[in-house]
Amino acid sequence: MSTNSQFGSKLGLIAATIGSAVGLGNIWRFPAEAQANGGAAFLLLYIICVCVLGIPVMLAEFSLGRAGRSDAFGTFKKIAPGTPWYLVGVLGIVASYIIGTFYMVVEGWTLEYIFHSITGGLYEGVQKVAPGGDFSQVDAFFIDKMREYIHTPVAPIIFTCIVIIINLVILLGGVEKGIERLSNFLMPSLFVVLLVLCCVSLTLPNAMDGVEWFLKPDFSKITADTVINAMGQTFFSLSLGMGILITYSSYFPSDTKLGETSVIVSASSLLVALLVGFIIFPAVSSFGLADHSLVGTTLVFQTLPEVFACLPGSIIWSVLFFLLLFFAALTSTVSIMEVSIAFFCDKMKMSRTKAVLVSMLPLLVFSSICSLSFSTLSHITFWGMNIFDLLDNFATNILLPIGSIALCIFAGWVAPKQLMADQLTNNGSLFCRWMVKPVIFILRWIAPILIAMILIV
Ligand code: ALA
Repeated sequence: MSTNSQFGSKLGLIAATIGSAVGLGNIWRFPAEAQANGGAAFLLLYIICVCVLGIPVMLAEFSLGRAGRSDAFGTFKKIAPGTPWYLVGVLGIVASYIIGTFYMVVEGWTLEYIFHSITGGLYEGVQKVAPGGDFSQVDAFFIDKMREYIHTPVAPIIFTCIVIIINLVILLGGVEKGIERLSNFLMPSLFVVLLVLCCVSLTLPNAMDGVEWFLKPDFSKITADTVINAMGQTFFSLSLGMGILITYSSYFPSDTKLGETSVIVSASSLLVALLVGFIIFPAVSSFGLADHSLVGTTLVFQTLPEVFACLPGSIIWSVLFFLLLFFAALTSTVSIMEVSIAFFCDKMKMSRTKAVLVSMLPLLVFSSICSLSFSTLSHITFWGMNIFDLLDNFATNILLPIGSIALCIFAGWVAPKQLMADQLTNNGSLFCRWMVKPVIFILRWIAPILIAMILIV
């Protein structure tokens, strides 16, 4: 087990695990997916995927992690010694490191937008437009801002390096004093900010059109791709297959109720996605921007600033929104980086300080290169993708599904059945034995086949 290696309270471990789950996946990815895949129809599929796939796979990670009481690599070594199953752990560590590399860049942009919102630079000179008016000039204004803030070499690297240092300092504090304290403070703040922004958005003129669009399913948009996207969204937003939940659950006390924890974490992640929908769709529909593409970068760094610019008190709403995004991203990046830190502590026998430095300092270079893929290095492309998109696609669409299939097969077929039963029932002390058989059935038969579809399609 790594140093400082247990959460201090039930609330703290839940806040930290929700903090890991709730991130760019909920705020940046979800609205884009919902818009492209039939609004409520996608939401419905996403809820089904979370219940049928997300919770069982999360329970598998929790069970293995707490039984192994080690990092993602060591857990497989302990449970299946002398076999190559430890490679599943290696896959998780590699995937989380790659995700951490590009995630820091977006977290850096978020900090940059908080900075420019506070100084007023983001909104200086913009011409306000009334709801439903002609947004072409405002569009052009914020496209220029994106060019100035993101598609430029120096500033984004500076902000990316600042967020890497912030993550490093928190991670140096360890599990209880660093990650848990941060999450205990940030997660409630995140929910407060979400609710405030929801109230603002829902009281805009014609907000209900957006709500109706978001909640009225358009089943004609459901295709095989929609199902695949809902599964991908489930894996990314619940932090599955990244080694994070194995690592975090190795810090769970032995009386933690895994079933209850997995339901609370998944429900919170869904709730955040729902609230984000209630912020974004009424706002864009009220201002007549509903036909804008809500793809991650455009949505967060162009469309929403357009909305904020035209609201009274633009700066307040803008700072609040980017703070929300920053909080969500920060509690996710600390969990993403904890995977490698735990590995260096456990397997390489490094002190926590050394493990944090060895994991975080190379990011100063890797994430900077990734950041440059929007400016100086934009001409370097692989299969039509810049470095940033390549890392995102490789980790999210290839490593996560492969790792998750292997994890399900391991938990369902290879790990002793008794291990899952003991972990899910806390050695028989909980009355939830009924859960064991369906969870193992899903891990054996349903989850690997469904996840394989993500890879094949
Ligand atoms: N689960 C994290 C997110 O949604 C990685 O951003």
